[in-house]
Amino acid sequence: MRFSPLVDRLQGEGVAAWDLHYRASADQRAGRDVIVLSVGDPDFDTPAAITEATIAALRAGETHYSELLGLDELRLAVARRHQEKTGQPTTIENVAIMSGAQCGLFASSMCLLAPGDEVIVPEPMYVTYEATLQAPGARIVQVPQRPENGFHLDPKDLARAITPRTRAIFFATPCNPTGAMMPRATLEQVAALARQHDLWVVSDEVYATLTFGERHVSIAGLPGMAERTVTINSLSKSHAMTGWRMGWMTGPKALIAHVYNLSMAMLYGLPTFLQRGAVVALEQDLAEVEVMRAIYQRRRDMVVKRLNQVPGLTCLSPDAGMFMMLDVRSTGLGSGEFSTKLYEATGVSVLDATAFGKSAAGHVRMSFVADDKSLEEACRRISGFVRTLPGAAA
Ligand SMILES: Cc1ncc(COP(=O)(O)O)c(C=O)c1O
Repeated sequence: MRFSPLVDRLQGEGVAAWDLHYRASADQRAGRDVIVLSVGDPDFDTPAAITEATIAALRAGETHYSELLGLDELRLAVARRHQEKTGQPTTIENVAIMSGAQCGLFASSMCLLAPGDEVIVPEPMYVTYEATLQAPGARIVQVPQRPENGFHLDPKDLARAITPRTRAIFFATPCNPTGAMMPRATLEQVAALARQHDLWVVSDEVYATLTFGERHVSIAGLPGMAERTVTINSLSKSHAMTGWRMGWMTGPKALIAHVYNLSMAMLYGLPTFLQRGAVVALEQDLAEVEVMRAIYQRRRDMVVKRLNQVPGLTCLSPDAGMFMMLDVRSTGLGSGEFSTKLYEATGVSVLDATAFGKSAAGHVRMSFVADDKSLEEACRRISGFVRTLPGAAA
């Protein structure tokens, strides 16, 4: 039987690097002594108030079809937060509740891009972008975020990549895998290019609340950007709710009207009882959220300090999120070989970061979603492993 050409476009190249992660997860399930640092799923429980509100809604029989773009109360809570952050007038007509940020990214891609369009993405980039942006037939044009620049974007690279076919710029800030966050000055230059060339901007902000220094800036708040920006967010990372699939997109009303039609054809709304929990997450300032952020920051500081003491390793301190990049170029191993050998020798799984783009060559991505004891043990094992490598710089 034949399939549509879409199935080919959905196949990304970055898939092989995940084999090691699947292997580590299987070993962990089998009870082996492994420390899985190859994924970004928070190791915390969802705050209790959210779960309780969801259970209450379930018990109250809120198990029927929901409004297609989400409960009004939830869209309003998202709109309020967006307006507070960006200073842009935002109503529920600017908001669509989606099944996680990923679904928001996909809906943006389907509603904004056409076959032959070019979409610029700074790399290293989050792995799902490839299939997400290729789905409507668009072509991804990658621009480098170089390690020597702390994996930050140089807007001149972006300017050079723009052609008459460019329709949009997609990026995540803070970034996965690097944890680098775009400073306001960079966002201003990106915004100027978008206005000048009449481009859409899709800004993926799922790590925006998990910052360790500077506060996050949303590009949608810059002058002339609200009408051309789609902001993507979710509760997955900020509230340790990856499995709830609660995300949203905020953008111009005309776009949200098209997303309504897409949702009718595909998603048909989200479970009402889960949305009741999400309302609590957004309307109450839950203490657990700041506690989790502070713990990530403490873990980051600990891991960066420990691994930077290991000859041959350089650890890039992330601005935000739950990942960091480890430069392994001085160990004498390539990043693929490093991650495989490290796992085989020590049971610590990290990801070969080349899966995220070629600027990440020679780096591995390591998450810090494990308790202090496991992270300390992981650092000890990584350090011991690197010291056994003949090529490691003394
Ligand atoms: C940059 C980025 N965007 C989107 C997602 C997907 O988030 P969600 O669970 O809300 O779909 C992730 C998940 O790791 C991510 O790292």
